[in-house]
Amino acid sequence: MVLKRNILKKIRMLNLSKKVCLITGCNGYLGKSICQLFKKLGATVIGIDIINKKNDNLDNFFKVDLNNKNQIDTLIKKMKKIKKIDVLVNNAAFLANSKTKNIKEKKLFYNHKYENLNLTNTIYLTNCVIPFLRKSKNGSIVNICSIYASLAYDYNLYKNTNMKPSLAYGVSKAGLKHYSKILASIVSPKIRVNSISPGGILRGQPKKFISKYLSKTPISRMAKEKDISNVVAFFASDYSIYITGQDLIVDGGYSIS
Ligand SMILES: NC(=O)c1ccc[n+]([C@@H]2O[C@H](COP(=O)([O-])OP(=O)(O)OC[C@H]3O[C@@H](n4cnc5c(N)ncnc54)[C@H](O)[C@@H]3O)[C@@H](O)[C@H]2O)c1
Repeated sequence: MVLKRNILKKIRMLNLSKKVCLITGCNGYLGKSICQLFKKLGATVIGIDIINKKNDNLDNFFKVDLNNKNQIDTLIKKMKKIKKIDVLVNNAAFLANSKTKNIKEKKLFYNHKYENLNLTNTIYLTNCVIPFLRKSKNGSIVNICSIYASLAYDYNLYKNTNMKPSLAYGVSKAGLKHYSKILASIVSPKIRVNSISPGGILRGQPKKFISKYLSKTPISRMAKEKDISNVVAFFASDYSIYITGQDLIVDGGYSIS
């Protein structure tokens, strides 16, 4: 059994061994999946989140409110002991359908909370982490965006549900997607920057929503966290060493028609 495991380890092509990876929103659904896969692939995993939850795949955890620049500055001071960071995954976000006070928002209502966490402070954190990434041989930044960085919402999907797609969410993710491209041109060749635009992840959405969503999705199912974290691992690894400034849509084909 041990021998078999060792052989499997050797033939596993994609690996993140010796890579120090910083993952924001590490205690969320996708964050946990990324941490688990990165750990399995040999990475040293450092997590950041506003909530402290049990997460066995972390080597180090920092409780930080990324909405607060002072807390980001304090985090960077604490990280001074870390010699280098190889991978930064910007995954934390204020989500489109969070059950917050925005429940009554109208389609045109613009909540700056989305922009602050998903864009402005993600950029602030990234700029602070770049000096650490420069110390890596092959630094990689992976920004988690959304199909709504490129697409408008189909409001018909949301009819008669309590889901409230937010204008500011799509705009913040579009900004992050374009930031990734521009940043790639600035920090090249030392650091690569790519983004991923996931489609909807299955998360107990109303049946009405799911059936309409699937009727528009060629790979007739919603995404699982693993569908996305596998792609994050690819961009984090040296398997994508010649790819920078790109956005990869991972949506089962939702966006092709
Ligand atoms: N769920 C989907 O269908 C979907 C689709 C496309 C893209 N995405 C993107 O995937 C990423 C992960 O989403 P998820 O579905 O796992 O959501 P999630 O809510 O499970 O995870 C988000 C994590 O970010 C953390 N977070 C929120 N505010 C924070 C703050 N101020 N400071 C620090 N951490 C904070 C949360 O505590 C949480 O652990 C997000 O960027 C989201 O926009 C999700």
